[in-house]
Amino acid sequence: MFEFNPYSREVDVDPFPFYKTLRDDYPCYWSENGQCWVLTRYEDVYAAAQNWEAFSSAKGNMLDDFPERTGRTLGTTDAPRHDHLRSLAQAAFSRKNVNYLIEPIRAIANEEIDKIIDKREFEFIGDFSSPVTVATLSHLLGIPKEAHREIRKNVVLALQADPETNQKGPENIAAFQWLKDYAANMLEERRKNPQDDLLTHLMQAEIEGDKLSDEEVLMTTTTLIMAGVESASSFMTNLMMNLVDHPQVMERLVEDPNRLTDAIEESLRFNTSAQRFRRTLTCDKELHGQTLKAGDKVLLCWGAANRDERKFPNPEVYDLDRKPRGHLGMGTGKHMCLGAPIARLLVKTSMEELLKRIPDLRKADQTLEWISSTTFRAPLALKLQHG
Ligand code: HEM
Repeated sequence: MFEFNPYSREVDVDPFPFYKTLRDDYPCYWSENGQCWVLTRYEDVYAAAQNWEAFSSAKGNMLDDFPERTGRTLGTTDAPRHDHLRSLAQAAFSRKNVNYLIEPIRAIANEEIDKIIDKREFEFIGDFSSPVTVATLSHLLGIPKEAHREIRKNVVLALQADPETNQKGPENIAAFQWLKDYAANMLEERRKNPQDDLLTHLMQAEIEGDKLSDEEVLMTTTTLIMAGVESASSFMTNLMMNLVDHPQVMERLVEDPNRLTDAIEESLRFNTSAQRFRRTLTCDKELHGQTLKAGDKVLLCWGAANRDERKFPNPEVYDLDRKPRGHLGMGTGKHMCLGAPIARLLVKTSMEELLKRIPDLRKADQTLEWISSTTFRAPLALKLQHG
């Protein structure tokens, strides 16, 4: 009997065979373990994400969300409150063109490359994708270097759930609290000493006399740290995995680094780090012969929609020349990723430096272990060799 349990280890390790059965045989599936409906066809996931009135984010956008996030952050509010938060956050983001980050990212990436270039083997996440992501987002937000290690540790913990109960355990709650306290201290500091950074811009952002409240700035900052760090470093890891799994693509990128833009888009389609986000129905709905009730949770599987053969021919093939227009690797609709331009720039610039200085990367022998999450997917470690 087919079963899709979003909390299971099998789904963490390889969700794609499950997605195929879901798309073909159970396009609107009730998961007993997840206590949610599961949508996997491109057309359905896309339509639900556009229809925010019926598929609400206001009760959380992760299956196991923190209750205190609900109704308070960009990802966990509906219009009109969401429109208000989003336009103010957008105003803060747009104060500078993201290209000002190119040189800092190059420097950050090269600092990490200096440490690994003479090692024949290294671990990509701990030695590259995670420190480069944390340092870049810290540069954007104005977080000092001493805090980077603790930030990384607490983001990973805050996004996990207790494997026994599938709920946030004391360790996960403490990590979220640590991030919130850290953000609150930084905001206090910026109030006294405004800087030219995103935090200060968030506090100052104003549209027609309307500003973010202290609590809104705090929750937005905590979300930016959590959403940005995990999704971007895991995404960079998935991209690297695709390249070492397809050495001929790696060779083409070493020859022409501009094609990294195509590799990034195809990786967002093929195995985005943000696999599944949740909505809650505000009204009853009929879908594929099932009756969904107001208040039911619905899991939107971006990762499954991106492999739907009804939308993308030969979806299981990683194809550098595909140009996957309309992929959902960064979501769609009102909640589409706010950090997308920064994430793309971060991954392109740092990978460009890495491939330039270490062009002969390959996968070391290993059994991959995977993050345990209903939302994100990436390996926990990825050993690479060169030389
Ligand atoms: C490649 C890396 C990334 C991926 C794959 C990704 C993916 C996503 C997805 C799928 C959503 C939609 C969530 C939903 O519909 O409920 C989202 C929203 C969001 N992302 Fe990203 N993200 C990435 C990087 C970042 C970065 C670097 C930042 C911050 C600088 C960021 C900030 C946000 C925020 C604030 C939202 C909520 C937007 C809203 O609800 O209006 N993301 N992201």
